[in-house]
Parts: sequence; structure tokens; C-alpha cells
Amino acid sequence: MNVDNFRLQLGGKEYVPIIIGGMGVNISTTELALAAEKLGGIGHISDAIVTYVCDRIFSTNFVSRKRKRYAQYSNNPDKSAVLFDLEEIAEAQKKYIDYTISQKTGNGAIFLNCMEKLTMNSGIETLKVRLTAAMDAGIDGLTLAAGLNLRTLDLIQDHPRFRDVKIGIIISSVRALSIFLKRAVRVNRLPEYIVVEGPLAGGHLGFGPGDWHTFDLKTIFAEVLAFLKKEGLNIPVIPAGGIFTGTDAVDYLQMGAGAVQVATRFTISKEAGLPADVKQNYLNAREEDIVVNMASTTGYPMRMLTSSPTLRYAIRPNCEGLGYLLENGGKCTYIDAYYAAVAEKKAGEPLVVKEKTCLCTGMANYDCWTCGHTAYRLKETTNRLANGAWQLPKAEDIFRDYQFSSDHTITLPELEVT
Ligand SMILES: Cc1cc2nc3c(=O)[nH]c(=O)nc-3n(C[C@H](O)[C@H](O)[C@H](O)COP(=O)(O)O)c2cc1C
Repeated sequence: MNVDNFRLQLGGKEYVPIIIGGMGVNISTTELALAAEKLGGIGHISDAIVTYVCDRIFSTNFVSRKRKRYAQYSNNPDKSAVLFDLEEIAEAQKKYIDYTISQKTGNGAIFLNCMEKLTMNSGIETLKVRLTAAMDAGIDGLTLAAGLNLRTLDLIQDHPRFRDVKIGIIISSVRALSIFLKRAVRVNRLPEYIVVEGPLAGGHLGFGPGDWHTFDLKTIFAEVLAFLKKEGLNIPVIPAGGIFTGTDAVDYLQMGAGAVQVATRFTISKEAGLPADVKQNYLNAREEDIVVNMASTTGYPMRMLTSSPTLRYAIRPNCEGLGYLLENGGKCTYIDAYYAAVAEKKAGEPLVVKEKTCLCTGMANYDCWTCGHTAYRLKETTNRLANGAWQLPKAEDIFRDYQFSSDHTITLPELEVT
């Protein structure tokens, strides 16, 4: 039995039941998402820090234009006036999504991971623009992640594609799901799929900092299935977090999963956005190098490598150019931590910012090395080359290993001659 014995049915279409999860900022690149789409699965791009991502891909200058507009606030802890231009957000979003969607060649789909916690100092307005522009640009699906904004569906209900675009939600508990569904029923628009993310996932976790380790994906997944059955709802449920082999995936598909969402194994693929030397760090990680901490300014715990450079950042907040994590009113806990550090700093001593990190800059610079719990096992999935480095597999190798392997075996990529 392997994953290929199953198919995901979604809105009248059939997919290989493997979804590559969204990995911001531009770790799940256009190329990575397209690799899944080409093989009949589903790939995500993420719109986290999309203006910066556009600048890198298309040499636009969204970030420098915004930075120039708000230069006078760079030494001011009050960022309330540092706002995004909604037209620029729409322009960047459309450019990036159109670029990705126009390169589709397969029978799969490309979805957008849209983190509602990117409040951008104007949470509702910017979220509406992001979602609207994504639908305008032809995105196949919207995966609502990180934060449960109950008004999200209301924001886009007048869009002509509201009933045709696939909409999914990422939740980590039945409680969160039931709150979301109550609202969805009111606008008569249920999600097409539900991703249940457990505590072993990468990125932010939907659990408390002190109790995440007391939960497990299988239990939450079974609770969600039971809840939907009780409610008479037939919506595909997609577990995510710690699914490392094709056989792990089959276990869930046999329990009734519609598909699985996976990410960590793809972080080291050639197509993933992390720089090549950072991929080697992921491959060399030991279990004790992977921690869950509260360095993120979002208030959610996040999993990362202890060697992440961002954990030692003491840089001035970069909100004039980026500012994706500014709460409405221009607040961010990194700004508070940074200015507290400046006030405490003694002459001749280095500036040390405690507890929080500038996640916008850290993610944009690939300095925050977030990963799933299983990252320490990545070395089992590829070859060590004669020069001591690890071979970076193609996304297709990893996808096909998930699709066709059995008995927890992992098929290594064909050895690359260096
Ligand atoms: C490097 C990395 C970055 C991630 N970034 C995001 C993100 O921006 N938004 C999000 O909703 N999930 C994010 N995730 C979570 C994944 O989309 C996915 O659901 C989860 O990691 C799957 O578990 P696995 O990594 O154990 O396979 C990220 C995961 C990784 C490994």
C-alpha cells in the first residue's frame, strides 16, 4: 500500500493526495509549488512579505519606496503612521501570483498560504486586498493560516470567484474549527478542505508555549473527523506536522484523511528558497538543535534551529520598509524589546535584545531557520557527497518518494557526481 493508491477529491477534480505546505518567506518558491503541481499534487506559495519577494524576483522597488516614504520614523518607536499603500500590495500580489500561475503545466493546483497574523498595521484592509488580488490573479485556492479571523470570508464574499476558488483553513483544534465553521455557515460558504496542523510542524504552532508537547496530531485529527461526522459535514481533512515517510502518510489516508500536507522534507530540495549553505545546516541538525521558542513577535510559539542568526539580532526595527507584523496602531513586541535594550545598554557593551526577534528582517534574509520537528531526520533522505556536503534532492524526488514508497523506506535521490 502506498500514497498512490489514494486520491484527493476537491471541487470535482482529483489530485495526488500530497500537498506541499506554504513556507514563508519564499521558502516554498514558485518553482517548488510548480513541481508539486506538475506531478498532480498541490503546491503552495506564501504571500508573506510579498513586496520584498517581488523585489527579489522582478527587481521592483516596493520596499525601498515604502522605506523612503517613512524614513522620518526610522528612529521613532511609534510606527502608527507607517502604513502600506494598498495599491502597491495589490500590484505586488498580482505580479507574484500571476508569475506563478502562468507557469502551470500539470494537472495539480497552486494554492496561496495566507497568514492572517500578518497584520501589516491595518489587518482587515490589507487582508482584503491580499485575498482579492490573489483571486484576481487566478490562484486556485486560498489556505487561511496563522490566526483565526472570523471576518475573512465576509471580506471577499462579493468577489466573482468567491464560490469558485477553493478555500481551506488551518486549525489545530476542534474548538477553532467549530468557531470558523459557525461563521462560514452564516455566509453559506463552507471550506473545501481543512488542514489539521499538529505540534510537530514547522513555522508557528497553534498551541500554547507551555503545552504544545502535550498534544498529538493523530488524536486531534481523529477528533476533527468525529466532529465533522457528528455535524454531517463531508469536507476533506488534511493532517500536517511530522509526516516524514510515505508510510506515515498512508496511515492517515487509511484513517480517512483526504490528503497530507508536508513541508520539512522539501526545505532541502533544490527548488526551496533557502540558500544552499542553510540547507546544509538543516541537514546537519541534531534533535537537540531544534527548539520551540517565543522569539516570534506574533505571540505564537515557533520551531527553529538554535543556530538561527535571527536569535542574535540586535538590529533597528525595519518597519519602514517591511512592517508586516505591525499590529493595528503600529505596535510590535520587537520594537519594545529593542528600545528597552537601547535604554539599558551601558557604554562599551554590545546591544543585546532579549526574548524577541525582528521576524520580518529575519525571514526576509533567510536568517530565521524554522523547521518541523523531524528536520533532524533529513539526513536519512539524501546522499552524502565525496566532498562531505549533502546532496540536495530535487522536489520531484521527494514528492515521488512520498507517493510510491512503502514500509517506511525512503528512496534516496540518484547519486550526483560532483
Ligand atoms: C520552513 C517552514 C516554513 C513554514 N512557514 C509557514 C508559513 O509561512 N505559513 C504557514 O501556515 N505554515 C508554515 N509552515 C508549516 C507548513 O506549511 C506545514 O503545514 C508543516 O510544516 C507540515 O509539517 P512538516 O514540516 O513536519 O512536514 C512552515 C513550515 C516550514 C518547515
